[in-house]
Amino acid sequence: MIDRRYKRLTAFLVITVFAAVLGAATFTAVDVSAEAEPSWLEKRLASVLLDMKLRANRPTKLSPFTPTEQDIEKGSDIYREQCAICHGATRGRIAPLGKSFSPRPPQFVIEPADGPTWMDAYVIQHGVRWSGMPAFRGLSETDAWRVALYVEGRSKPKE
Ligand code: HEC
Repeated sequence: MIDRRYKRLTAFLVITVFAAVLGAATFTAVDVSAEAEPSWLEKRLASVLLDMKLRANRPTKLSPFTPTEQDIEKGSDIYREQCAICHGATRGRIAPLGKSFSPRPPQFVIEPADGPTWMDAYVIQHGVRWSGMPAFRGLSETDAWRVALYVEGRSKPKE
């Protein structure tokens, strides 16, 4: 009886010490700089969780306007002034701050945003916590949708 208890306690202690050593080693190895390339697991986990959370929040999904060419042009102006430094200005070229954040800002000049448009518009207006994506509180909802369409390279919103 005592012997079995003793064995269990030993096993528990061994596992605890092992977990503590592993935890300390991982903690020491983590690169906390903004230059660090986030791991595949971090990227997948963060994007799945963000997607789930935004879907659960269910912000306005309907476009506040029917887009015309002028709307896309306005989106392009806003993009050049406020977004290009992180998301890229020249087609095919990485932005000056493209590798200065972890998670990295997606390079829309290399790969357009995938949408759905309501989700991109929401992210643009409210930003993403624990990332370098700021909330553009000064943009109206209409402007957020305009620039969302622009970064997706679409003329109509994607559901
Ligand atoms: C200071 C740098 C910075 C600026 C300026 C910035 N962003 Fe971002 N943006 C980021 C980062 C970093 C992320 C990645 C966030 C993440 O992975 O969760 C991001 C993510 C996004 C996403 C989500 C993309 C996806 O993967 O679904 C959209 C859309 C976006 N930005 C649009 C914009 C628009 C439009 C502007 C200008 C109005 C802008 N951003 C300005 C840094 C920036």
